[in-house]
Amino acid sequence: MFSPIISQVKETDLDGCHNVESACYTSDGASREKIANRIRLFPEGFFTAKFEGKIIGIINSASTNMDDISDEELKDMVGHDKNGRNIVVFSLAVLPEFQGKGVSKLLMSRFIEASKTLKKKKILLICKTNLIDYYKKYGFLYNGKSDSTHGGFEWHEMFWPIS
Ligand SMILES: CC(C)(COP(=O)(O)OP(=O)(O)OC[C@H]1O[C@@H](n2cnc3c(N)ncnc32)[C@H](O)[C@@H]1OP(=O)(O)O)[C@@H](O)C(=O)NCCC(=O)NCCS
Repeated sequence: MFSPIISQVKETDLDGCHNVESACYTSDGASREKIANRIRLFPEGFFTAKFEGKIIGIINSASTNMDDISDEELKDMVGHDKNGRNIVVFSLAVLPEFQGKGVSKLLMSRFIEASKTLKKKKILLICKTNLIDYYKKYGFLYNGKSDSTHGGFEWHEMFWPIS
């Protein structure tokens, strides 16, 4: 039976997380060092999906008081404030061979629960045009085109008002 386990990230998960990131993103993917920073500085906002001991999906984030998240530095955790009012999703990724099985849904549900527990006001993210409807399915609202040109792509701002 396919039943992945969702857990908060651990330092020893670095290689597995970087493997998922590299398999799912191209020029917009985070380096091993960026992933390591996210694990070290904000494990409360970083979850893995594991199946048979292997990391098959990840979601990670930073927290900030800013509403404008086009700033590239935040991806390096510069300006991250774990007590910030908002939480910003960077990567939501599932290994291609495990896509379409509900893994990202499990990761996002856990992430939303954690964001509520951490008393965040809004979940913010930027996504490519083809994923606007995907995030709307979770209840995210569209906030217009982003100024970000990260990885050479066009991005859109989405947000989920928690309170
Ligand atoms: C986008 C991604 C995370 C989805 O993961 P997944 O585990 O395959 O998604 P799920 O199986 O949990 O699907 C959840 C729902 O979203 C829908 N969905 C999945 N991928 C979608 C897509 N590309 N566009 C629109 N809807 C999509 C599914 O049909 C499902 O809908 P349902 O609940 O009505 O059945 C995955 O395709 C991925 O890793 N892509 C590469 C990295 C990426 O682009 N991440 C997004 C960062 S902006």
